[in-house]
Amino acid sequence: MNLVLLGPPGAGKGTQAKRLVERFGLAHVSTGDILRAAIQSGSALGLEAKSYMDRGALVPDDLVVGIIRDRIRADDCRGGFVLDGFPRTVPQAEALERMLASAGTRLDAAVAFDVSDQVVIDRNTQRRSCPTCGATYHLVNAPPKRDGVCDRDGTPLVQRPDDRPEQIRQRMAEYRAKTAPLKEFYRGHGILREVDGSPAPDEVGRLLVELLSR
Ligand code: AP5
Repeated sequence: MNLVLLGPPGAGKGTQAKRLVERFGLAHVSTGDILRAAIQSGSALGLEAKSYMDRGALVPDDLVVGIIRDRIRADDCRGGFVLDGFPRTVPQAEALERMLASAGTRLDAAVAFDVSDQVVIDRNTQRRSCPTCGATYHLVNAPPKRDGVCDRDGTPLVQRPDDRPEQIRQRMAEYRAKTAPLKEFYRGHGILREVDGSPAPDEVGRLLVELLSR
């Protein structure tokens, strides 16, 4: 099963991708995580990506397409993958189609999470992440057991630089202008599936599995 997860910032793509990985043994490919790891390592890719990400803008298509081309050739993607945060523009979606066609495979579904603007703002402002293992928390809905500290490895939690109000607004604007049109793109391909992303994570997960089992 090869899946794409679509949705505005904070819609729950990462949260649900991790659940799908556990349930179906798929590889998790998150361009956001890959880019943040590149920033942390201080690589040339990271330096370039940081200038876009810190202000909530999309990283140029050629950079992310290059990342995905390498990543989906890896062994762990052979049994299927969940693309979390890619594609985000129509040119990225077209590049993905070409890559998959040349590898003799295709997408099975593009799942779009629907959430309101208020949910987007709440989830992003209340998110805290672990800079060591990437675990994410929500200060109210999914808090860590000990205040400000990761449950898994005890690292102090941080707020992502793009989770500040001005950057959240910019990310929402980028989503509306460049990513939302992908719903029509995948509807036209007959593989769009829509799910309500606003209930609690367990309920969204249940709806998602039901949808994919159909
Ligand atoms: P990326 O990391 O992909 O950010 P995003 O799409 O904005 O998505 P988020 O990670 O913010 O949210 P999510 O939907 O995964 O929600 P999550 O599960 O964490 O990208 C960051 C940046 O990288 C981009 O802005 C861009 O600059 C660059 N980039 C990445 N890919 C790119 C591409 N393809 N092209 C160009 N640039 C690219 O949940 C959010 C919070 O809500 C958490 O606190 C969580 O605990 C909580 N939560 C989740 N689900 C629920 C629920 N059901 N109920 C209550 N709380 C919930």
